[in-house]
Amino acid sequence: ASFNEQMAAKGKLYFGNIVDTNTIVENGAVEILKTEFGMFTPEYSWKWAFIQPNQGEFKFEDSDKVMEWAAENGKQIRGHTLVWHQNIPGWVDAIADQATLTQVVRDHINTVVGRYQGRVYAWDVVNEVFNDDGTFRASVFYRLLGEEFIDLAFQTAQAADPKAKLYINEYGMDYAGPKIDAMLALVSRLQSRNVPIHGIGSQTHLTSGRVDEVPAQLKRLASTGLEVAITELDIRVKRPVDDEKLAQQKQEYELVTRACLDLPSCVGITMWGVSDKDSWIPSTLPDFDAPLLWDSGFGRKVAYQGVDEALQRG
Ligand code: G3I
Repeated sequence: ASFNEQMAAKGKLYFGNIVDTNTIVENGAVEILKTEFGMFTPEYSWKWAFIQPNQGEFKFEDSDKVMEWAAENGKQIRGHTLVWHQNIPGWVDAIADQATLTQVVRDHINTVVGRYQGRVYAWDVVNEVFNDDGTFRASVFYRLLGEEFIDLAFQTAQAADPKAKLYINEYGMDYAGPKIDAMLALVSRLQSRNVPIHGIGSQTHLTSGRVDEVPAQLKRLASTGLEVAITELDIRVKRPVDDEKLAQQKQEYELVTRACLDLPSCVGITMWGVSDKDSWIPSTLPDFDAPLLWDSGFGRKVAYQGVDEALQRG
């Protein structure tokens, strides 16, 4: 049975991965995407810079390709992402007054969420709002609107697609520290303000050797009463990669898969890539490599067995 089918057999919603206009045409990748996974997150084409590069100029050609591929293959989509400090076009970053920014955020979310209304399982409505020390990033959104930019984004998204689950997504919440503490406090404030938030995405970009706190921290996120999801899983290995390190990586993938299986409110796991050669890691963090389950030739690594063994166990 596929990863996705095994997750469903365990009462979970999905095992997912990323997809985009590059991988839907890549031999090797596309067979694995179709076979193993049921939920897909667009890696880049649904981000602001790609969808609304200039004010009022919406480019949906690539995002539509992703949505049609998912529909044709009976797959579900997680929309990623509406409000983020990265991949924001210059014209948005340059906005200097609250009223204009509010209108621009409303227009973007209404247009993008509206286009795929009823066809998206969940949206990462806001992404990576905190610095590592738990303070708010000084994005144009926070600088002009304060933390209420989050309320605005969620309320607009809910009106545009009442069916979609609305998530806040963040990395660096895999261990105790100021970032996860800030997230828990923020979610509590949002809930007290009746902001329509349904889930917390813990990206779970991990470093091999530092994964042991994942189960406990995921439980803390679930204590909010919201859905939780592992949204961008990869486990990078310090170069030089060798068999011993890959064996450790296998154990770590088993631990993380079990962390979701053992947590009732964890709805699913999304990997951030299929083959090591397509991962964002080596180009962004050159001291690390081999973060995924398939090698550069789309052969299964021992890490694949780690996920499979977690899914097989009672
Ligand atoms: O497709 C264009 C190409 O036409 C253009 O010539 C080229 C040069 O600018 O850019 C290409 O787009 C790149 C895109 O990846 C596709 O390769 C963008 O520049 C590049 O910024 C983009 O990187 C993505 C990055 O987010 C920023 O959006 C990565 O694929 C993606 O893996 C990464 O994913 C993020 C999550 O969204 C949030 N969490 C962290 C994660 C890793 O950084």
